[in-house]
Amino acid sequence: MNVKIQVANSSHAKYAQQICDLIYESAQARGTGIAKRSPEYVAEKINAGKAVIALDGDKLVGFSYIESWGHDKFVANSGLIVHPDYRNQGIAKRIKKRIFDLSRKLYPHAKIFSITTGLAVMKMNTELGFKPVPFSELTDDEEFWKGCQGCRNFDILQRNNYKMCLCTGLLFDPEKEMKPKRERPFAKKMVKPILKKKTPNKLFKK
Ligand SMILES: CC(C)(COP(=O)(O)OP(=O)(O)OC[C@H]1O[C@@H](n2cnc3c(N)ncnc32)[C@H](O)[C@@H]1OP(=O)(O)O)[C@@H](O)C(=O)NCCC(=O)NCCS
Repeated sequence: MNVKIQVANSSHAKYAQQICDLIYESAQARGTGIAKRSPEYVAEKINAGKAVIALDGDKLVGFSYIESWGHDKFVANSGLIVHPDYRNQGIAKRIKKRIFDLSRKLYPHAKIFSITTGLAVMKMNTELGFKPVPFSELTDDEEFWKGCQGCRNFDILQRNNYKMCLCTGLLFDPEKEMKPKRERPFAKKMVKPILKKKTPNKLFKK
């Protein structure tokens, strides 16, 4: 098995239908809601260089694409899928990293976000620097939230005025991540650790 992960180009548009089928079948198997995508929409993303595809020879292994919202202020890495035969081998992690890097390159100033109920995505995004946030920190672009209409939990989102649902919001804010970390004051950096070290010794002397 030799899985190659690359930024998709127009030669990969032929996989659009297979990608949609795989996403749909996986959602059915998990019994979760999913934003519906058409093959035409996926092909559009592929042709625009806004997708990452994983192939084993010419067999489709995995996929993810970029969507932008709110006049490119927000970006989402969507439609992450790995073929069931290839799961638990770190392929999603590699796709996530690649699509994240591509998003940073194409939209360097955008906040990158996702909403998910999946532990795997929570883990991977956290490793990339995403932080959990309430929905109020995410895009208010109606088009994005329209994507939730295909989800079986949509009534919950509506009932809560689009402010909360079963998904967790995760956000990568480039402004915050790129800022140099604030220096810890001297007292905290030097004095506190010394005190911490000394206290236990004193306690055990008697
Ligand atoms: C979720 C999915 C993309 C993971 O693909 P994968 O290639 O098996 O994932 P990886 O092997 O790269 O694992 C990445 C991390 O997620 C964890 N993980 C993978 N599948 C998991 C699962 N079902 N439950 C909990 N954690 C999981 C792995 O342990 C790993 O974490 P670690 O680095 O701490 O070990 C794949 O199962 C899939 O396509 N599922 C259906 C579609 C889906 O759920 N997409 C996400 C939509 S939000």
